[in-house]
Amino acid sequence: MIHGCGRLIWVSSDLVTRPSPSVRLMRPGDLASVAAIQADSYHPHYLEDDATLRARLNEFPDTAWVAQGPAGVCAYLVAYRSVLGKITPLGGHFHSPALPNCLYLHDLAVSTAAAGQGLGPALVSHALAVARQEGLAYCALVSVQGSQAFWQRLGFRATTLDDPRERQHLATYLGAAVYMTQALAAN
Ligand SMILES: CC(C)(COP(=O)(O)OP(=O)(O)OC[C@H]1O[C@@H](n2cnc3c(N)ncnc32)[C@H](O)[C@@H]1OP(=O)(O)O)[C@@H](O)C(=O)NCCC(=O)NCCS
Repeated sequence: MIHGCGRLIWVSSDLVTRPSPSVRLMRPGDLASVAAIQADSYHPHYLEDDATLRARLNEFPDTAWVAQGPAGVCAYLVAYRSVLGKITPLGGHFHSPALPNCLYLHDLAVSTAAAGQGLGPALVSHALAVARQEGLAYCALVSVQGSQAFWQRLGFRATTLDDPRERQHLATYLGAAVYMTQALAAN
């Protein structure tokens, strides 16, 4: 079967070549696709309304990316600059400090049609490269929906939160939510 976002795929004995999805900054015109992928990928507990998605893109347009293939946007990553050990509670505002040391990955999702093709890792790799270029020392996230092994493969490790307030923020996420971090070597 050929999935919508495109890559090299064997179909029976024929090799079908399709362009790879490209990673680019998210634009306001992508938000309907982003909302649809989010609704497709997350438990209803985690869904954000259109106004929240739009406000975050307005405020942090240079740390939100999409993967686009021939069929359109099929994955996205929303991040912002933060401080190691700080967690955005579910539905909370992004607080970007004057002196960030960490890129916080808030939301990564890949459409069902494009799953398993490496688009999630490609978006994360792009974000890590940007963070390193900026001299940010860490990348961090809250792993939900059983995604811990996925993040471990990308170099993240479960990290204990010392601050009780941040542990409360972590508890706003449903189920087994794990704070994970990675130290970034400078380029
Ligand atoms: C977690 C997520 C971002 C991974 O993205 P991805 O681009 O599919 O990542 P990968 O290509 O590395 O595939 C991840 C695994 O999913 C498997 N997979 C999931 N659905 C698949 C499908 N339809 N076809 C093939 N493989 C699939 C792959 O086999 C792969 O496992 P492997 O590394 O052992 O081979 C994606 O599954 C997703 O959007 N999940 C829902 C939202 C979510 O939970 N986000 C993380 C919140 S912290």
